[in-house]
Amino acid sequence: MAFTTSHTQKHVVVLALALQLTFLLMGTSSAQLSVSFYSKTCPKLLSIVRYGVQSAIAKETRIGASLLRLHFHDCFVNGCDGSILLEDTATFRGEQTAPPNNRSVRGFNVIKAIKSNVEKVCPGVVSCTDILTLTARDSVNILGGPTWEVRLGRRDSKTASFSAASSGVIPPPSSTLANLINRFSAVGLSTKDMVALSGAHTIGLARCVSFRSRIYNESNIDTSFAKLTQRNCPRSGGDDNLAPLDVTTPKLFDNHYYKNLLNKKGLLHSDQILHNGGSTDSLVEQYSQNNKIFDADFVTAMIKMGDIKPLIGSQGEIRKVCSKPN
Ligand code: HEM
Ligand SMILES: *[C@@H]1O[C@H](CO)[C@@H](O)[C@H](O)[C@H]1NC(C)=O
Ligand SMILES: *[C@@H]1O[C@H](CO)[C@@H](O)[C@H](O)[C@H]1NC(C)=O
Repeated sequence: MAFTTSHTQKHVVVLALALQLTFLLMGTSSAQLSVSFYSKTCPKLLSIVRYGVQSAIAKETRIGASLLRLHFHDCFVNGCDGSILLEDTATFRGEQTAPPNNRSVRGFNVIKAIKSNVEKVCPGVVSCTDILTLTARDSVNILGGPTWEVRLGRRDSKTASFSAASSGVIPPPSSTLANLINRFSAVGLSTKDMVALSGAHTIGLARCVSFRSRIYNESNIDTSFAKLTQRNCPRSGGDDNLAPLDVTTPKLFDNHYYKNLLNKKGLLHSDQILHNGGSTDSLVEQYSQNNKIFDADFVTAMIKMGDIKPLIGSQGEIRKVCSKPN
């Protein structure tokens, strides 16, 4: 091309490069994600995913919560790139045994089953990362929450990072409010996004080891709630015993999580800290009173979280099997 390009063609090339550069400089790495990304190449994708999530939740309600959390833990470690789905290989140690994930992330079999159904009708086309993102959306909706359109086109990473997943980018439940705000801010999410996304704890379960110090040692906790929770979470032992994150309506995606916080019935330290006399109290109060505002802010924040540093274009790959690089 370079030898024969005419003067005007050169101008066209320069213009095209300039446009591409503008897109890059705008910093919207998600500029190339789109709702219709697979509409020609895999038109059945959305219904296959929805059906897969629906069947999994019919077998076990909790799996919806687990899929939502898996998406969060994927996106906070080097962006939404499906890295959490990768098992350890000879060349890298993956994220699944990193402290925030070890013995607690689940849902891999659902992703595997959906991916294999998708591969049957459109082989080599749809990324595991997009499938995971869609399962998070469908889980929320099937459990009674809002729905939204998911922009697609994320590609899969070829590697995963145990050390990145262990580095504190996923905040621990012992976090201060300042740490929660900082960790979300580091991936481009606002304090409002953080408070709205914490509302994901309206569904799902936590292990005793994640809330023991709160129910035995903290004073900003309802006494009867603390006693009730202590029954299945002894001072020592029983680390894996489970309790619902939303004690009121644990299987329903609603705003009772925030109502619980007003009553000092947050399960995790990091939950109750959102309503403990600090800067986020008023947002918690608003969400507790107005489910519609919560839903709207949750959707906005989920879309932003799903857009964190996606691999696009020719970056990464489309994995054949979600647990292994090709
Ligand atoms: C704000 C900071 C957050 C902290 C400190 C945090 C911490 C935790 C912890 C400690 C657990 C229990 C894990 C266990 O004991 O096995 C948990 C569960 C869960 N988290 Fe979060 N989380 C946060 C934000 C989020 C976000 C943004 C989402 C999704 C949008 C989310 C969704 C969930 C769900 C659905 C569960 C239950 C999972 C299941 O039952 O399998 N969390 N979280
Ligand atoms: C993960 O959990 C296993 C089983 O309890 C434990 O042996 C291992 O030390 C844990 N790994 C890390 C990195 O914490
Ligand atoms: C409560 O706090 C004390 C003092 O910090 C600590 O030694 C103890 O292990 C804590 N108890 C629980 C159950 O976390």
